[in-house]
Amino acid sequence: MILKIVKYPEPVLQQPGEPVTEFNAELRKLADDMFETMYAGEGAGLAAQQVGIAKRLAVIDLSGGKDPKQKLVLVNPEIISREGKLYETEGCLSFPDIMEKVVRAAKVSVRAQDLDGKWFEMEGVDLLSRCFQHEIDHLDGMLFIFRMSALKRDLVQRKIRKLQRAGEW
Ligand code: NI
Repeated sequence: MILKIVKYPEPVLQQPGEPVTEFNAELRKLADDMFETMYAGEGAGLAAQQVGIAKRLAVIDLSGGKDPKQKLVLVNPEIISREGKLYETEGCLSFPDIMEKVVRAAKVSVRAQDLDGKWFEMEGVDLLSRCFQHEIDHLDGMLFIFRMSALKRDLVQRKIRKLQRAGEW
């Protein structure tokens, strides 16, 4: 089922997620629906806050649904190490058509649980590293506009207000 994607400035987007404690059918269904929603929006990652649920659950797929091996579910994830620096353009399904450069670590290691509650560790470089950081930020209630320079953030917020006034946001 495709869920409704919540757009900035909905408060839930800035709400830190509650840890997931029950690894049940409901969680599995939510993850499935989040994949479907993410593919429909042509995104590479989606956090539970973006479908209005403040829980520490995110899905990632850099293949856009073409390669099942690239489907990643992160439950209660945390970044355990960071290395290097990247400054690349990012977008976010909660900020349609907003693309801006953000500083991220070039390589991160993540520790997370899968849908069965089993802990695993995984390394991400380049795009995957950025994706891990962007989605884990969401779970902390942190949005990519707050990783931009104040000047860029101002411009983006002004653009959003303009779109809102025009009824296009
Ligand atoms: Ni996002």
